[in-house]
Amino acid sequence: MTRPVTIAPSILSSDFSRLGAEVEAIDRAGADWIHLDVMDGHYVPNITFGPPVIKAIRGASKKVFDCHLMIEPCDPYIEAFAEAGCDIITVHAEATKHLDRSLQAIKATGKKAGVSLNPSTPESVIEYVLDRLDLVLLMTVNPGFGGQAFIPSVVEKVRRVKALIGDRPIHIEMDGGITPQTAPAVVAAGANALVAGSAVFKGGTPDHYEANIAALRAAAIRARAA
Ligand code: DX5
Ligand code: ZN
Repeated sequence: MTRPVTIAPSILSSDFSRLGAEVEAIDRAGADWIHLDVMDGHYVPNITFGPPVIKAIRGASKKVFDCHLMIEPCDPYIEAFAEAGCDIITVHAEATKHLDRSLQAIKATGKKAGVSLNPSTPESVIEYVLDRLDLVLLMTVNPGFGGQAFIPSVVEKVRRVKALIGDRPIHIEMDGGITPQTAPAVVAAGANALVAGSAVFKGGTPDHYEANIAALRAAAIRARAA
């Protein structure tokens, strides 16, 4: 099954002093989902924002709020992120002792459930939770910061995850160093959702965001046609 190409700008690269306006701008510029990078300074070496900030920007867009939790533990906070307005909640397999339980907790809120894998984590960890998953997020950088270089060895993992998923309706989302140059390889390998921070927000104006999103989408669609 081929899922539509989905572009998910990460607001990590936006101007935090104008967060609501930035979310509105990427919505109008053609974003499919809004990617929210939540970091705790413990699981990853950076701190960003939590449920109150997400709740405050929820009114700025009707699009899917795609929440990437880089926090450990994650279970105690899942309900708060659901209540704040996240539509997809993704946890790191490495940041929870009981992945199946965390995914059940997300599903219990009525939201879509995702699991994220760091570049060094083998895809086998998702083998027995596939029936609980709506999304697999494969990191192509080590989580914690925007603007890092794409790690090409993950492309092979995309192929393996695609094979594991088979016909199940599960998104394969890529995150880290995604640009019109790096996107084609992951899309050709089977990814359908692309997170991009720097590549979307570079230029700093809504016109740039629109051109940047269009360039990513065009590169992805070309890679599928090839
Ligand atoms: C990294 C985050 C990414 C990051 C992507 O931990 O999960 O979403 O913001 O930023 P770029 O696209 O700049 O690599
Ligand atoms: Zn992310």
